[in-house]
Amino acid sequence: MNDNSTQFDVLVIGSGAAGLTAALTLATKLRVLVLAKGKLTSGSTAWAQGGIAAVLDAGDTFDDHVRDTMVAGAGLNDRETVEFVIERAPAAIDRLCELGVPFNRESGDLHLTREGGHSHRRIVHVNDATGWAVQAALLKAAEENPNITLLPDRSCIDLITGRHETKYSGSGRVWGAYALDTVTGKVVAHTARATIMAAGGAGRVYQFSTAPRGATGDGIAMAWRAGARVSNMEMMQFHPTCLYNLEVKNFLVTEAVRGEGGRLFHPETGHRFMEDYDAERMELAPRDVVARAIDDQIKRFGLDYVHLDISHLPADFITGHFPTIHEKLLGLGIDMTTGPIPVVPAQHYTCGGVVIDLNGRTDLPGLYAAGEVSESGLHGANRLASNSLLECFVFGEAAARDVLAHWDGFEEPPAIREWDESRVTDSDEEVVIKQNWTEIRRMMWNYVGIVRTTKRLERAKNRIDLLASEIDDYYGNFRVTTDLIELRNLHQCAGLIVQSALKRHESRGLHYTLDYPETDEFAKDTVLVP
Ligand code: FAD
Ligand code: SIN
Repeated sequence: MNDNSTQFDVLVIGSGAAGLTAALTLATKLRVLVLAKGKLTSGSTAWAQGGIAAVLDAGDTFDDHVRDTMVAGAGLNDRETVEFVIERAPAAIDRLCELGVPFNRESGDLHLTREGGHSHRRIVHVNDATGWAVQAALLKAAEENPNITLLPDRSCIDLITGRHETKYSGSGRVWGAYALDTVTGKVVAHTARATIMAAGGAGRVYQFSTAPRGATGDGIAMAWRAGARVSNMEMMQFHPTCLYNLEVKNFLVTEAVRGEGGRLFHPETGHRFMEDYDAERMELAPRDVVARAIDDQIKRFGLDYVHLDISHLPADFITGHFPTIHEKLLGLGIDMTTGPIPVVPAQHYTCGGVVIDLNGRTDLPGLYAAGEVSESGLHGANRLASNSLLECFVFGEAAARDVLAHWDGFEEPPAIREWDESRVTDSDEEVVIKQNWTEIRRMMWNYVGIVRTTKRLERAKNRIDLLASEIDDYYGNFRVTTDLIELRNLHQCAGLIVQSALKRHESRGLHYTLDYPETDEFAKDTVLVP
């Protein structure tokens, strides 16, 4: 080993809920390296508001949670996976309690809130900032564990595979990843016998998204380039209620506001418009239904936003349940205890991703995936609220357990080539990156958004194809930076989303197209093979 390489038993890419759960499980026996792009708290996990779904109430059942998940997912879910995850939820919550996550309680019992698509109260939470508390507890445990090394400021570029072996072994295995150390500017080969991809979603492929800046689909793109299948990439979830504000562009107003009684209104007429779209479930219909209703109101009436109003409830109830949101909005001159909040839909969650089995295994030997980067079969065509963190805990652990169970079969990595920078120079035209980023994100929002048509998808495909050679050329000639790594991945994910959307000739869940408005009798995954 030298300055240009490290070797650990297992490499985990990502320090969110999925990555840290995997690392903590592995570290009982193995030495683990965890890499994060930017800060260790930079992923979506720290931003989660609503909470974690689990059957904990006496009147609730696993069957009900399974049914709600499959109704939201429009039948595209894999039932075995849904049952696997939901049955493991209470144990996952117990482990988080043991790690010290201070979930809200009422008379000693966990307080359960409600969100869209759930037939029962079943969301455990820490006020309206659950993710931050979970991230802090996992990180503290990882920092205290001598078998875990945490390295922030590392932007992984590509997985290390057979083509990077000094002498080609033909094993087809993944041996870790090359990552840019953004402090020193050096690219380091991080080798390992097993690699767990937990790099989160691709939300930032859209102009408006609730996801953090780094959600550029790096993990999906890296796994795809290495040869893993991805599926259901057209199933991009839009959250109905992102704050509309000219300065603050991606602040989520949790679904729990509607769960606790918040209502949606036309801002001019005061009409409670959900009764025109889903009179039975109203504001608590699944997200795709509510987001499409808001999108329709905005487009039909030329609005900038609609109103979300919970001010009919007592002020102390509102501030007690939603202290973070209340304070944030007050800072922007909006008092949710006395008036409505202007909201719009925004991209929120990547339902598709790298195909995995119940052990978190991808198609590639030595590569696992867990969390938002993956497509496990849990979410189907639309994720049920608060099922995502749960998936991270269940699959982070499942992947780690599979590695531990088969450790003797994981070979020592062979000699790996160092990163070659001999033919590249520093870029003198950063503007190319900015221009392409902006163009992709705006185009995806306008052409591949909540309501789609084949014509718009084809336009998007043409633009993405045109950008390909420009981005490849740039990547081939200039020294890598995080911006360039992200642009390359964003472009790749945009292509996968459009390709998948063009393949689905029906409307189902989050994929709604005016050219195929009907839903087919049988649900089928859109699987792309590299
Ligand atoms: P993340 O937490 O996103 O972590 C990704 C990690 O990968 C980060 O450490 C990042 O630095 C690292 N990474 C990325 N690219 C690279 C690279 N190239 N090199 C090295 N490292 C890399 N879900 C719920 O269940 N309940 C909720 O209440 C909820 N609320 C949400 C609110 C918001 C605003 C958002 C955006 C999402 C919410 N979600 C919620 C979804 C949920 O937060 C995410 O799906 C989940 O946290 C994803 O966890 P993860 O571990 O897969 O990835
Ligand atoms: C929210 O709090 O509305 C987000 C919940 C989720 O994405 O699961």
